[in-house]
Amino acid sequence: MDKDTFYITTPIYYVNDKPHIGHAYTTVSCDVLARFARLSGKEVMFLTGTDEHGLKVQQSAEKAGIDPCDFVKPGSGRFKDLFHALHIQFDDFIRTTEPRHQQAAQAVWKTIAEKGQIYLGSYSGWYSVQDESYFTETELVDGRAPTGAPVEWLEEESYFFKLSEFQEKLLEHYEKNPDFIQPASRRNEVIRFVESGLRDLSVSRCNFNWGIPVPGDEKHVMYVWFDALTNYISALGYPDEAHKYKKFWPATVHMVGKDILRFHAVYWPAMLMAAGLPLPEKVYAHGFWTRDGKKMSKSLGNGVDPYELIEEFGVDQTRFFMAREVVFGQDGDFSRESFIQLTNSHLANDLGNLTQRVLSMIHKNCGACLPNCGAIEPEDEQLLTQAAGLFDSLTPLLTETYEIQKYCETIWSVIRAANQYVDAQAPWALRKTDTARMETVLYVLAETLRYVGILIQPLMPTSAAKLLDLLSIPTDERSFKFLTVEHALVSGTAVPKPEGLFPRFVEKEGEA
Ligand code: MSP
Repeated sequence: MDKDTFYITTPIYYVNDKPHIGHAYTTVSCDVLARFARLSGKEVMFLTGTDEHGLKVQQSAEKAGIDPCDFVKPGSGRFKDLFHALHIQFDDFIRTTEPRHQQAAQAVWKTIAEKGQIYLGSYSGWYSVQDESYFTETELVDGRAPTGAPVEWLEEESYFFKLSEFQEKLLEHYEKNPDFIQPASRRNEVIRFVESGLRDLSVSRCNFNWGIPVPGDEKHVMYVWFDALTNYISALGYPDEAHKYKKFWPATVHMVGKDILRFHAVYWPAMLMAAGLPLPEKVYAHGFWTRDGKKMSKSLGNGVDPYELIEEFGVDQTRFFMAREVVFGQDGDFSRESFIQLTNSHLANDLGNLTQRVLSMIHKNCGACLPNCGAIEPEDEQLLTQAAGLFDSLTPLLTETYEIQKYCETIWSVIRAANQYVDAQAPWALRKTDTARMETVLYVLAETLRYVGILIQPLMPTSAAKLLDLLSIPTDERSFKFLTVEHALVSGTAVPKPEGLFPRFVEKEGEA
């Protein structure tokens, strides 16, 4: 991470879906990375938003008997509300129905068309409204789209983008920039797909009108993916290439689910190449959540509602579960049992109990002030060195490889070491035999908790703030530059009465 800016994007969400854990996941993961970058001193632009055009939306609005404009507004609001509820600190929320987006998408279209990369032709093929995508005969599985969605035969006049001309350039780009697509397994899939040959892409529709008009031929609207992908620069003020665009483009990373990687790692880079614009630095594809081993789907009605998790278990517990339960990049399974098990063991037991033990002893035995550091023994040094070394080992995990789970585990290795240390040192026994040593032990533990508290901020901002408040750390001393010995806790500082950080979740009688 040598640039001093960091631009991260989520996909923009379809407004006709009710937000579920999959949507929450992409956004929480981006929030963790964005908060880490902010705390590292970067200037951050974190973009999310909603994808509001297309036949699917038009049909849903018609079915509901309302104008598409009135249909998309509450749909978009549902995502925004959820992101507020999850404490997502986004910097902008783009809606593709906004004039600023329409202008940008049309400007991208015009630039690509002027460069001779868009032409008028006619299209026929199997179209899935649900996927907003065409499929060839050979791609169909039992007469349906590979996703299982129904398809219909469509034939229409359409503009085409000369995607086929970008095969070599894309392959060259992947070759020269081995980190462009991550994780590596996904990169290989994309390379194989591009190597197998690219067909020109149909980029307009004229059988419906809920979309952005094609410049110069208003009976056509842009294909929803062409429109949607441009959101990443419309939010930066494009076609104005000064200001935000100049500062933040190219993006540091587009975070997407594995189902939409092709659009981001093939179509979008080709569109940018055609327009003569720089490519994002990285496209990262994360995995999918299943529930109790089954794919979540509307028909099964087994989607996990993030609001229910927040309400029952808490926001930070929900964020932590998403970050820690699965290896980022791989698929994961949601089950109520694993949620309770993970949050109880890591949050209530490991971190919650440690904090409670240390802070209540300080409160009772050190006059509610941070204790004296005193003479440091080798075992104290060992724990402090481990805590002080955390930042260096954590940085590549959230800036290069996005190993969010490993980020959690690395911090928890220090929390576990602190728990072993407190058991071995037994400050409650020292209280009677050697109060100076007891103070040193409690100081070492409080200082370790300072490191932990600062470093868990990207994962659990509210609980981290509570922990840092309990240690009386000023709010302007919580960024990563304070993770040094020079900023160690000051003995004698008054601390508030301790409060529990994470209550242990106990299943109520009769519940699952
Ligand atoms: N509108 C397009 C994206 C356009 S970006 C220019 C879209 N929207 S979506 O609402 O269907 O999906 C948004 C994101 O949610 C995608 O990254 C998708 O992978 C993710 N998820 C949807 N279901 C998911 C799971 N079950 N698990 C994990 N993420 C999933 O696609």
